[in-house]
Amino acid sequence: MKVLVVGSGGREHALVWKISKSPRVSKIYCAPGNGGISDLAECVNISATDVVGMVRFAKQNGIDLTVVAPDDPLAMGMVDALQAEGLKAFGPTRDAAIIESSKVFAKHLMRRYGIPTAEYRVFESYDKAVKYVEQVQYPVVIKAEGLALGKGVIIARDFDEARDALKSMMVDKVFGEAGLRVVIEEHLAGPEVSVLIFTDGKTIIPMVSAQDHKRAYDGDQGPNTGGMGAFSPSRVYTPDIASEVEDGIIRPTIRAMAQEGRPFKGVLYFGLMLTPQGPKVLEYNARFGDPETQVVLPRLKTDIVDIFEAVIDERLDEINVEWEDNAAVCVVLASGGYPKSYRTGYEISGIDEVLKDPDMMVFHAGTKKVDGKYYTSGGRVLGITAIAKDLDTAVRKAYQSVGKIHFENMHYRRDIGRK
Ligand code: AMP
Ligand code: GLY
Repeated sequence: MKVLVVGSGGREHALVWKISKSPRVSKIYCAPGNGGISDLAECVNISATDVVGMVRFAKQNGIDLTVVAPDDPLAMGMVDALQAEGLKAFGPTRDAAIIESSKVFAKHLMRRYGIPTAEYRVFESYDKAVKYVEQVQYPVVIKAEGLALGKGVIIARDFDEARDALKSMMVDKVFGEAGLRVVIEEHLAGPEVSVLIFTDGKTIIPMVSAQDHKRAYDGDQGPNTGGMGAFSPSRVYTPDIASEVEDGIIRPTIRAMAQEGRPFKGVLYFGLMLTPQGPKVLEYNARFGDPETQVVLPRLKTDIVDIFEAVIDERLDEINVEWEDNAAVCVVLASGGYPKSYRTGYEISGIDEVLKDPDMMVFHAGTKKVDGKYYTSGGRVLGITAIAKDLDTAVRKAYQSVGKIHFENMHYRRDIGRK
């Protein structure tokens, strides 16, 4: 069968890699893809948000399955558009993807169905929001309602920071429409865990747990990024906590979406905080996480194409999903200056050297391939994933391999996998 993956980051490279292991797949396309993906798939020059172009390509090329990975095309209804043409597509419909694309929807859903989350208020008026933050406890968390490239959450330490955040979202409109409504919520404390599940709207199958590192510098300092690394499993997500989360958060969320007439089919990502009062939801993502996917999929034994089809056909209860009893760590190599300004176009060396070890994987994010050589083309450039019997060994192996890779101005964190 022919499979099309939509997207161009490290997550999509990991997806393409895992799909390429399926004996059922004869050809993979990726739109738009990147330098590393082009070694496994035919990259097609269609933007991930070009819904009309993607549907046309899938029809003309007889694509049997399209996997829509990023948030934007899901929120725009790319899965609906593919299905309307009778094409098989993996991912939630637009009505279900709203659980990520509107934080106001997600918070109201959790309140209505008793799913544990931070206390919150929603504001559409800048003046009312400012009045409210004059009398709240600090720190307080301010979130733009919509998709904001992971930058729409501000933890304000005092009134001045809160007012500045509200002004930039609601008056200066730095996130456009996405910031016109804001959620102001209670600040929670505790370790964060990412739990992703496969669901067909009825059956749920949790994946192995993961944790990511969002800040740019060691010790969780510096600005938030798309993610500087991840590891799996989490050291703090015990079987007891997992069953509490499954009963108190995961199942109620899937039931709630069905009751709202928005059945969720695809991958749902629960961003959790393990607070002293129990696990609470920080956010939902309607998709695979990046860079969590780069540590979760290498641990998956089952053919992922079988899982995708079972989700689409609503027979996930028939699938036995199996995981390796091991650990994975992914260290992201970024362009110096990321997430602010950085330069690209530098040649990358050492990838072949790293790939001599069968337990190492190099997932490309911002690269392009020209005449057989890889060059940097984005902020996050590569994710170096190591597989080992336990986390400490995986961390050691990942950093040994990082030492073999070179490009101008390479930046990475030295503490990935040590939380
Ligand atoms: P999000 O984009 O919603 O994942 O938020 C980005 C990060 O902000 C999360 O990973 C948390 O570290 C932090 N965050 C979000 N909501 C809260 C909260 N209510 N309390 C404390 N930290 C939060
Ligand atoms: N790792 C966080 C995300 O994918 O949004």
